[in-house]
Amino acid sequence: MRPRKAVIPAGGWGTRFLPTTKSQPKEMLPLVDRPIIHYAVEEVVRCGAELVVIVSSLGKRAVEDYFDKNADLELFLERKGDTSLLHKVRQLADMADICYVRQKEQLGLGHAVLTAKQVVGNEPFMLVLPDDLFEQQERVLQRMADIFEQHQASVLAVRRVNEDQVSRYGIIEASSIGDRTYRVTSLVEKPKREEAPSNLAIMGRYILTPQVFEELENTSPGAGKEIQLTDGLRRLLSRQAIYAYEVEGDYYDAGTPLGWIKATIALALKHPEMGPEIREYLKSLVSVSRSDAC
Ligand code: UTP
Repeated sequence: MRPRKAVIPAGGWGTRFLPTTKSQPKEMLPLVDRPIIHYAVEEVVRCGAELVVIVSSLGKRAVEDYFDKNADLELFLERKGDTSLLHKVRQLADMADICYVRQKEQLGLGHAVLTAKQVVGNEPFMLVLPDDLFEQQERVLQRMADIFEQHQASVLAVRRVNEDQVSRYGIIEASSIGDRTYRVTSLVEKPKREEAPSNLAIMGRYILTPQVFEELENTSPGAGKEIQLTDGLRRLLSRQAIYAYEVEGDYYDAGTPLGWIKATIALALKHPEMGPEIREYLKSLVSVSRSDAC
């Protein structure tokens, strides 16, 4: 059985992107030609999600409006005869079956996941953090769903990070079972460099069994006084096996200004229409800044 539901948490404050995120959801920042959350919804739908549960909160109305039907705008574009834009706008409302749950207090990612408990029910689900993007975006969840199908156990996406970065992530200790797949033996949230069991960091893609909800309910607030998903996963590991899939290729954290700029450039370069022009533009910028430096 492959998971049929997906949870996309979008309830956080986005403090690393303030002041931009004071009045605008981080998940609605554009990446080239679409908002960040659009990529996440596309990704889970491609991986077979029949229901997408978005965790929303105060100030996130723009996310709900984005995936809603806008009859006035459609009428305007229809009258203008802009069929191409009309098609794009209509497609958004039909992209997926989406429902929203409200996180009333921003008590962390673990808490956001718990908010989706009633809607997900007693079945496995995909969890996608929208501001984590991978160069091999299309393949990551698919591969994780294959591993889930094989073992019927939770699967985490991990990636090797530099040792000086381990304190920013949830880190796993694991034994390799081949083909970039690991069996997890322990997990720790944001360890000190000297205490990290490895440099395999958990990155925003998960396939989780529903038992994680029970464990999150019994998880006390940890680092940053938030209910940490990694702490819930550590509890889950004491009753069930957890696997990890090591992602290849580049990764972008679009939740910070620098990461967002990098993701924008990388995606723009890959864009079929804009890519060639952006490449030339970047080359010209770099040569101008080189000659300025001389
Ligand atoms: P982040 O770790 O990026 O947290 O969350 P954040 O609050 O959005 O941003 P910073 O760290 O303050 O800059 C990863 C995902 O989990 C969601 C976020 O919206 C983001 O998509 N999240 C986080 C919630 O839904 N609720 C929370 O309480 C925390």
